[in-house]
Amino acid sequence: MSPASGPGPRWLLFSFGMGLVSGSKCPPSCQCQAEEVICTGTQLTEYPPDIPLNTRRLFLNNNSITYLPAMNLGLLSDLVYLDCRDNLISEVMDYTFIGVFRLLYLDLSSNNLSWVSPYSFSMLSNLVQLNISNNPHLLALNKYTFANTSSLRHLDLRNTGLQTLDHSAFQNLLTLQTLYLSGNPWKCNCSFLDFTIYLIVTHLNHPADDQTATCVEPELPGLPHHAGGEPRLRYMSIHPTWTTKDYIFLLLISFCIFAGTVPPWLTGVCAVVYQNARRKSSDAEDEDEHGQPVEVSRRISREGRTRARTA
Ligand SMILES: *[C@@H]1O[C@H](CO)[C@@H](O)[C@H](O)[C@H]1NC(C)=O
Ligand SMILES: *[C@@H]1O[C@H](CO)[C@@H](O)[C@H](O)[C@H]1NC(C)=O
Ligand SMILES: *[C@@H]1O[C@H](CO)[C@@H](O)[C@H](O)[C@H]1NC(C)=O
Ligand SMILES: *[C@@H]1O[C@H](CO)[C@@H](O)[C@H](O)[C@H]1NC(C)=O
Ligand SMILES: *[C@@H]1O[C@H](CO)[C@@H](O)[C@H](O)[C@H]1NC(C)=O
Repeated sequence: MSPASGPGPRWLLFSFGMGLVSGSKCPPSCQCQAEEVICTGTQLTEYPPDIPLNTRRLFLNNNSITYLPAMNLGLLSDLVYLDCRDNLISEVMDYTFIGVFRLLYLDLSSNNLSWVSPYSFSMLSNLVQLNISNNPHLLALNKYTFANTSSLRHLDLRNTGLQTLDHSAFQNLLTLQTLYLSGNPWKCNCSFLDFTIYLIVTHLNHPADDQTATCVEPELPGLPHHAGGEPRLRYMSIHPTWTTKDYIFLLLISFCIFAGTVPPWLTGVCAVVYQNARRKSSDAEDEDEHGQPVEVSRRISREGRTRARTA
């Protein structure tokens, strides 16, 4: 989507009007240089005033900011990089990022998020990296949250209170390369397995995660405890050598199938087996087919596997 079809012109006009009023100053405690404003660790309790309108990179990290005012943020229509990590932001609303539609990088990690409104990121179609890790009060994400963030490549969801994810939440993220999932109290019932199957059949590189995501509350009777520990999310199952745990994972899937819930499970399992076979046999041709990005992601994947083996 080109930026011109976004909220551009209206915000530009508005920005221009506000620009005449506010001028191009620099917030008192921050440093401003060449389209970059750095307010890191300056004990701000709220979003600072007087941020130059041509700012492209804004660092608000290590402060005590509790919310992001959409009006002020929306003036920065050139903003591509926004770092809000280590603050006390408690919610993100539908309109919070409506004016900063050029954003490529957004870091909301280590805040106190308890609510991310469903359309919060719906204008961020250029967003490449999103970090919402370390927000332990964040208990759920709506399935439309990522509906329009179609450029997303790296998504960090570690250490939140998330118990489950809807697999359809990720269906528009065709360029997603890394997804971090560890440190969450995943509740591994049948609907969650639907999501893990999605993880297996996509070309994601989950091994980038340094820890294995685990289920805190398996609702599937019996099986997990036979593994002699916490059940793991077997999203690394596309692996040349299948371990006992991989088979246990397949058993879990079978449980869901034969519990008679959803016929698509069968499709899921077939897809897993098919993808596994296809991956092994066509490593070389694929690289020509998809070009550079696949090579890059393969490399990451291999590194991940090596790391996983040494761990
Ligand atoms: C920001 O805060 C984190 C943790 O609170 C700390 O580890 C880090 O050193 C701080 N960074 C700066 C630049 O103040
Ligand atoms: C996300 O933020 C956390 C905490 O600020 C950091 O440790 C982690 O490396 C970030 N994730 C990515 C993918 O950069
Ligand atoms: C973080 O949010 C929770 C509820 O969501 C609240 O109880 C707590 O006081 C907040 N913490 C801070 C430091 O604001
Ligand atoms: C995605 O963006 C388009 C165009 O900006 C908008 O019409 C649509 O409502 C958005 N969808 C969601 C789910 O936010
Ligand atoms: C699985 O758990 C999630 C989170 O508690 C819940 O929303 C969902 O309805 C559950 N699904 C089934 C099939 O029990």
